[in-house]
Amino acid sequence: MVHLGPKPPQHRKGSLHDVPEALLKELEQLESVFNVSAETLRKITDHFVLELEKGLSKKGGNIPMIPGWVLDFPTGKETGDYLAIDLGGTNLRVVLVKLGGNRDFDTTQSKYPLPATMRTAKSEELWDFIAGCLKKFVEDEYPEGVTEPLPLGFTFSYPASQSSINEGFLQRWTKGFDIDGVEGRDVVPMLQEAIKKENVPIEVVALINDTTGTLVASAYTDPETKMGLIFGTGCNGAYYDVCGEIPKLEGQFHGDVAGESLMAINCEYGAFDNELAVLPRSKFDHQIDAESPRPGQQAFEKMISGYYLGEVLRLALLDLSAKGIFFKDQDLSKLNQPFILDTSFPARIEEDPYENLSDVQDLFQQELGIQTTDAERSVIRRLAEVIGERSARLSVCGIAAICKKRGYKTAHAAADGSVFNKYPGFKERAAKGLRDIFQWETKEDPIIIVPAEDGSGVGAAVIAALTEKRLREGKSVGAKKN
Ligand code: BG6
Ligand code: GLC
Repeated sequence: MVHLGPKPPQHRKGSLHDVPEALLKELEQLESVFNVSAETLRKITDHFVLELEKGLSKKGGNIPMIPGWVLDFPTGKETGDYLAIDLGGTNLRVVLVKLGGNRDFDTTQSKYPLPATMRTAKSEELWDFIAGCLKKFVEDEYPEGVTEPLPLGFTFSYPASQSSINEGFLQRWTKGFDIDGVEGRDVVPMLQEAIKKENVPIEVVALINDTTGTLVASAYTDPETKMGLIFGTGCNGAYYDVCGEIPKLEGQFHGDVAGESLMAINCEYGAFDNELAVLPRSKFDHQIDAESPRPGQQAFEKMISGYYLGEVLRLALLDLSAKGIFFKDQDLSKLNQPFILDTSFPARIEEDPYENLSDVQDLFQQELGIQTTDAERSVIRRLAEVIGERSARLSVCGIAAICKKRGYKTAHAAADGSVFNKYPGFKERAAKGLRDIFQWETKEDPIIIVPAEDGSGVGAAVIAALTEKRLREGKSVGAKKN
């Protein structure tokens, strides 16, 4: 099979032939820091498999491997109207999902950008904000009111421990969130309380992770779906495992749930390798971690996910400038601000179609007040490429590890999130990363990443439907109570 390698330098935008020798040397050094070889990918994947297993063991490990108590694989025949909210890293989405029962659905949704201050707001502000958005949505959609409380599936995109489908104790905030008074507590009653205050007729019936939602939404329409993935502000995956192979849940199953039943697991593998056994972490990653609200957590995520990509680039640029070979005599006060470059910044650098990288020039001038030289722009472009490439290549180790653990030789891995959907080249680089890991000799790749089905809100609705059905049938939706 012929794979496309990197384009030869003479065809690349912003070619490096004008770059002075000293700067070129520094760039090569940075390229080698961010380069992840096929061999390293395979080594990381093998360790990943062990870590997934460790997370399911009684003793536990770095990766939380949270049992999600979603105990059914959707048949595609589920029907009914459900509300879903999706609290992600950047938006709150409220969705009304009408499940058609023939692997089809209709959605009506509103998106409410999370105010920038929300990451560090007070707990009540967060819940009141969500309840307020829900109230508005329900009033718009049901101007005549409703006769029965609307069942709601709550997609909460943070690690939350569950011993049943309708609870979630936040283990710790991730993705830069740092709201006091939520960690260690069950978020469902907090939301339900705020909904009650607003007097909205809604009952929260299921709490799920965005990866679980993505998994179930895609499984509703595509039975080949083996996992749900988010490559966005954060990075994570969910898949179905066999209950009998979850040692930490031993003795907790009851009713219809037995050893051979399947359960969705929210891996929370952004925490992979927090002990840094295999990840090739650079000094920039160390700095990001040390300065984050939760140092030592989410080691994998901090190297690859959207919340951090611009920051890695910023630190690499400052490093070059500190060596006196970059941005000479420029005002760097803006560039010195942590997190000033969101992911759209490296994405726009990579998208610049012009030979002289004039879009990059405008970007640095307009957003940072920095005037760039031709050579600097070529280096900036190359840096964005290697950082983006590292992200995509490392990201797929989670997919490969789940496939190896479950013995999947073929799979559809359903993916969502801003990096997957918008970062240039991510999909191609990720596919190449998988090929490097598995070294397939087949014409078609047997494990492919496919765009997920319309957001995890649909998954939350399907899970709410599955949960209501289980409850009607008197089946269990959580662990045995002692
Ligand atoms: C959305 C999913 O499309 O992607 C959400 O529906 C998920 O559930 C989100 O949280 C993740 O992307 P980002 O980029 O907003 O973190
Ligand atoms: C972070 C969260 C996780 C979520 C992921 C993608 O890793 O901890 O729950 O699935 O981001 O949004």
